[in-house]
Amino acid sequence: MLASGALFERVSNVTKLLQAMSMALIFASTQVQALEALSAEQSASAAANYQQYCALCHGAERQGHVNDHAPSLRSKSLLESGFPWAIVMATGYGRPGTPMAPFIDEVGGPLTRQEIRELSQWLFEQGGVERLELDRDPIHGDVARGAEVYSAECAQCHGSSGEGGTGTALGNAAMLSLTPDAFLRHAVANGRNGTEMPAFADKLSDADLDNVTAFLRSRATGWDLQKPVYRPPPSPEDYVVNPEGEDPGFELAEGLYVSSADLNAALSAGKRMVLLDTRALPLWQMANIEGSVPLPYYYDYKNLGALAEDLPRDGTMIVTYCECPRAAAEYVNRQLKELGFENLAVLYEGIHGWIALGYPVMLGETESVAAVPLE
Ligand code: HEC
Ligand code: HEC
Repeated sequence: MLASGALFERVSNVTKLLQAMSMALIFASTQVQALEALSAEQSASAAANYQQYCALCHGAERQGHVNDHAPSLRSKSLLESGFPWAIVMATGYGRPGTPMAPFIDEVGGPLTRQEIRELSQWLFEQGGVERLELDRDPIHGDVARGAEVYSAECAQCHGSSGEGGTGTALGNAAMLSLTPDAFLRHAVANGRNGTEMPAFADKLSDADLDNVTAFLRSRATGWDLQKPVYRPPPSPEDYVVNPEGEDPGFELAEGLYVSSADLNAALSAGKRMVLLDTRALPLWQMANIEGSVPLPYYYDYKNLGALAEDLPRDGTMIVTYCECPRAAAEYVNRQLKELGFENLAVLYEGIHGWIALGYPVMLGETESVAAVPLE
């Protein structure tokens, strides 16, 4: 087993894993303060951070739905109802169990709290909308009736259990615990401008808007907050899995994709390869495929000579994978190709598919943190 392996507990129990992945974290501060307007310098650096870390999925123009059905970050409805806290929290701590990773440094992400605040402020300023003061009181409704409305009007996009589809994961524990009822109701009533999320204000009665909100709220879990314990990535001499093994000789679909079944068979048969986890670092820390090296998509591959030097140049197969299922992995694959690497593959199903198919992963350690109310 590689040095990195000892840091993780090997699990193949899907339920346990999914529980661990639906853990989430919260700012230690009880309040997220709105910032002053950004200076030109702060604005330029936030814009650059956006392009480096977010554009891959949310789009260069913040339009959303470029990869992994990442939502629009410029819809009026989101910005007026979700700034600052919903945007800051989602960016800092992610939506565990979805491709939306945590980005804050305290869990291994690349951005400081201040950078996350400035990035959120920048998103808000780009939208040019007025903030709404949302009511913090719970919205009461008939949960059973809300469930009927959900099946009839929402499930086709958000999934029958709120697991997400073209629409976001409405059953997500982190999303539900970080959003007040009025934020959910506002989204349902007003939709999300410029996206497929319709406005239901004219289609559903006020009572049904309350009912479906109450139904969503009823699915919040109470949710044990966990924080991954930071683990250093493996060192370069441990990058190659099965250094004595032979090349796996994968037959790649479309010249690019290896299936989970073929990858698992090759690993079990002791074949030689490098596995690159291209997700944001905290996701690697929570769960990864054994022997994988975290090289997130947001690394500056072109200018990172040292990084490329650490990868073997002897034709060793390099498999990249990401969350759901291929955007980041294909991006890194292309960067490596440009750097002259040739024996490359992308895991077709991504790590979510890998897990769903029952293949084992390494789980990182976590520590519980105290739940802090939003305000
Ligand atoms: C790998 C793809 C990916 C990357 C990269 C990514 N996101 Fe996301 N993001 C998502 C997905 C998918 C969701 C929706 C998750 C869900 O179902 O709840 C999301 C949700 C969000 C939300 C919640 C929006 C809402 O409608 O409630 C915010 C805010 C956000 N992302 C900001 C960012 C920022 C800022 C960055 C860059 C620092 C970033 N994201 C990078 C995929 C990504
Ligand atoms: C045609 C597909 C579709 C239907 C039908 C639909 N949604 Fe959505 N919904 C979306 C999409 C896509 C998004 C993300 C939009 C974006 O890019 O911001 C979304 C976003 C949302 C959000 C915001 C979540 C967040 O993290 O900010 C809520 C809440 C929501 N939908 C609730 C509902 C409810 C409740 C219904 C049924 C009454 C419904 N939706 C029906 C596609 C749909």
